Amino acid sequence: MCGIVGYIGTNDAKEVLLKGLEKLEYRGYDSAGIALVAKEGIEVFKEKGRIATLRSVVDEKAAGTVGIGHTRWATHGEPSRINAHPHQSKTERFTLVHNGVIENYEQLSREYLTDVKPASDTDTEIIVLLIEKFVGEGQSVESAFSHTLSLLKGSYAIALLDGENSEIIYVGKSKSPLLIGVGDGFNVIASDAMAMLQVTKQFLEIMDEEYVILSRDHVVIKTLNGETRTREPFIAEYDASDIEKGTYPHYMLKEIDEQPFVIRNIIQQYQNEDGTIRLDDDIRDAMKQSDRIYVIAAGTSYHAGLVGKQLIEKIAKRPVEVHIASEFLYNMPLLSENPLFIFISQSGETADLRGVLVEVKKHGYQALTITNVPGSTLSREADFTLHTFAGPEIAVASTKAYTAQMAVFTLLAVDTANAQGIELDFDPLQELGIVANAMEVLTDQKEKLEKIARHYLAVSRNAFFIGRAADYYVCLEGALKLKEISYIQAEGFAGGELKHGTIALIEDGTPVIALATQEHVNLSIRGNVKEVAARGASPCIISMEGMNEETDAFVIPAVHEFLTPLVSVLPLQLIAYYAALHRDCDVDKPRNLAKSVTVE
Ligand code: F6R
Repeated sequence: MCGIVGYIGTNDAKEVLLKGLEKLEYRGYDSAGIALVAKEGIEVFKEKGRIATLRSVVDEKAAGTVGIGHTRWATHGEPSRINAHPHQSKTERFTLVHNGVIENYEQLSREYLTDVKPASDTDTEIIVLLIEKFVGEGQSVESAFSHTLSLLKGSYAIALLDGENSEIIYVGKSKSPLLIGVGDGFNVIASDAMAMLQVTKQFLEIMDEEYVILSRDHVVIKTLNGETRTREPFIAEYDASDIEKGTYPHYMLKEIDEQPFVIRNIIQQYQNEDGTIRLDDDIRDAMKQSDRIYVIAAGTSYHAGLVGKQLIEKIAKRPVEVHIASEFLYNMPLLSENPLFIFISQSGETADLRGVLVEVKKHGYQALTITNVPGSTLSREADFTLHTFAGPEIAVASTKAYTAQMAVFTLLAVDTANAQGIELDFDPLQELGIVANAMEVLTDQKEKLEKIARHYLAVSRNAFFIGRAADYYVCLEGALKLKEISYIQAEGFAGGELKHGTIALIEDGTPVIALATQEHVNLSIRGNVKEVAARGASPCIISMEGMNEETDAFVIPAVHEFLTPLVSVLPLQLIAYYAALHRDCDVDKPRNLAKSVTVE
């Protein structure tokens, strides 16, 4: 969570920093700030709230060609101006922004800073106070910086300004994402390349426990042991239009609409010229050699994992367990002899997953990451990566990454089946093509779905989603989408489970959205709908062509039975979107959330 930026060059830093922070706002939006090196010293502007609020407090006349910035998702200390970054040392010589969590900040404070009272409640301020203390004791700024970094436990991406030397920004990284953008006569810092595509496409990856001395013309990378490292920049492959909303009112709507293209892109990326699936031999061998697959994920990606389990078990006949990342280490199952771990993560940065990955690697188990960000931490640290090719997902609520994850699972399952010589009556590339077409039909029916959202959810306090078999997993996702962006209390239930307690919550008019896309349970789920209707609920059946009835509220085009979740989720995404609009919610940036959850 949190995003940092920095600029050192010859142009006005202010606008580059603010624009960069706008692109990073998905990482947190509780407060924001920038610091500029001005003639009279360092000027800091910060405010509680979003970048738009920060813009309103930045002095238009403030000028400087060197600066740093931060957008915050609060971990230690409430969202407030005082707790907003940048933080300054007592003399205001040093100014710092930080993304991450310093786990031992209280201990460091007791050990080194008994005579200094921090101004904020954050774990971050301690870093800048320590640097000033070590400089005061005679260390050079560079050695005070690296010494301080070596004391920190936890995660950090840090940028530090020294008011007495405007020729350098000090940068440090461990476990939080950080890139240096390279330009002609300038260099930049960003938590995510997207923030700095406005000025460069060339980026240098910084590794854990490295720090950087950044000037206008030089990037010097060193390890905490003092060794200098050289590294070639890579070109960020984003198209600027990928990260713009264009004519869309919200990123979420744009990303929902992009789903047919994403599926077609996945087909293209994973298809050999002869029409077979293209996957690394190493991944195929790892799948083949494993005797059980453990899928680890959180939130929406966890829901994709539940569908992934079905795909692998049905198609490749391999046993799969799916685990919520944050619980796995407490409730660790008995592992099989040759486990393969699959980490599913849009961002590739989720700390809960990383905690499990680190543990798994200690035991020497193999790990595959399925992610939308191939250079991300989980991708780098796993043995193998499968890219979901969904393009940047900016809206906090995940949509296209979810369907992309399930599409990649489909290909993985079929490839594994092929490798075992299992005969299949299922052509995944062709069937995914049909899914893409069906998605297009669905995204053309927004008016209908908007009406459903208005009718059932515009004023409702709660809502239930029920389904059986694969529909149950999609209901979990539909409920999560609705609650996170519209703040309606929503729950996804297995159709048969509601009557074991939760049906007590059904009142006159309670919306119950039922998915009916699974032929073998069509009658049972319709039976469950009757049960809730008899108790006053307002049911809304979303069914699939071929098993629909006249009274159904919405009908989805038919796709292969393995792939129904890839299409049945679209109406639920759009219903959640319109429900949130009707309730005047901030669709792309729901309260209390952040896109990339890098704290445990
Ligand atoms: C919900 C949502 C979250 C994420 C979860 C995991 O719309 O986006 O539930 O799915 O935080 O994030 P990743 O997939 O980046 O690991």
